Amino acid sequence: MIYFLLTVSFLSACTKKGVTASGGTTPIPVPPVVVIDTNLYKFMPFPMGASVGISLMKNNAKYSGVVTKEYISITAENAMKFGALHPSETVYNWADADYLVAYAQANGQRIHGHTLNWYQNLPAWVTNFSGDSIAWEKMLKGHIQTVVARYKGKLASWDVVNEYFNDDGTIRPSVWVKNLGPDYIARCFQYANQADPDAILFYNDYGHEYSSAKRTAIGNLISSFKTRGIPIHGIGMQFHMTYTQTDANISAAINFAAATGLKVHISELDVRVNNNKVQGLVFTDAMAAQQADRYKQVVKMYNTIPKAQQFGITTWNVGDADSWIPSWQGAPDWPLPFDANYLRKPAYKAIIEGGK
Ligand code: G3I
Repeated sequence: MIYFLLTVSFLSACTKKGVTASGGTTPIPVPPVVVIDTNLYKFMPFPMGASVGISLMKNNAKYSGVVTKEYISITAENAMKFGALHPSETVYNWADADYLVAYAQANGQRIHGHTLNWYQNLPAWVTNFSGDSIAWEKMLKGHIQTVVARYKGKLASWDVVNEYFNDDGTIRPSVWVKNLGPDYIARCFQYANQADPDAILFYNDYGHEYSSAKRTAIGNLISSFKTRGIPIHGIGMQFHMTYTQTDANISAAINFAAATGLKVHISELDVRVNNNKVQGLVFTDAMAAQQADRYKQVVKMYNTIPKAQQFGITTWNVGDADSWIPSWQGAPDWPLPFDANYLRKPAYKAIIEGGK
């Protein structure tokens, strides 16, 4: 199927000035200049998204242009996290999240919420909170329900809990587990569901592609939720990958997620290339090609799961200069489908190829 958006420009009202034998001028017809343009999401058989930063959206027209044009699903990279939304106990700061919601709504884009509960990005008032378990429960419930209720009917979905497990499948220590016990995770889903019964609720994590122990732990959690009637509708797999990740690992993760029967969101996709954290590394055509091939494989394998389970694929930010990877690994990298100037990399075309 061809989804080219044809932008036809008739330059100078289809004319140029020509000189006649008599020395006068007469219009010479000029064929219309056809600019072939594309929107990534229109090529894809499932919703294609990106996470975005609010200050880039506001201050960088190239960035917001790409976000508007290429993607149909939007996630806030940071603006809906606990620390961003709820900086002190009695203060909610909605400005950035509201901005993004209004922007996406105006552009007909789906909004995925990230994230109601996480062990990271907590404000000091939470990490220092000294209440008993009843006060902790009230605080947890209050935060989740205030945030979900504000965006009820506007957001399609939420990452309810993010990164509850360690890579070995054990439960990660956090202030939540410490103060509320491990089953607080079930109550997070119940609280979110009470506040917006129509929201699609995800458990989001990373490492499905390399840790079978984590897959098992997540699978057990989902089974137990189903048995107990805890509302969970989706599994988010972040897929922060290296460009040497294998087909076998990618397919193990995707097959596992599909077997849960839940909706599957590849929720934070990026493909880094600087495995050895080399400071002066140069991004070569060969690296770009290998990276593109990984993007293609992820899309291709994801596209084999049942349609009803395809919530979509979201990349973690837009252009290479915006990625969290370089600061996280302390070395340069180029993990995204757009370069630092928002030009399409080979990965862009590979994503389209993978979706065919
Ligand atoms: O906004 C402040 C800025 O004012 C300040 O000058 C600067 C100095 O460090 O910090 C800025 O905040 C940073 C924020 O990103 C916005 O850039 C925080 O320090 C930094 O910790 C934060 O990192 C984010 C990280 O989550 C922690 O919340 C990354 O951007 C974001 O990409 C990353 O995303 C996570 C997902 O939520 C969950 N899965 C893993 C993924 C990668 O870690």
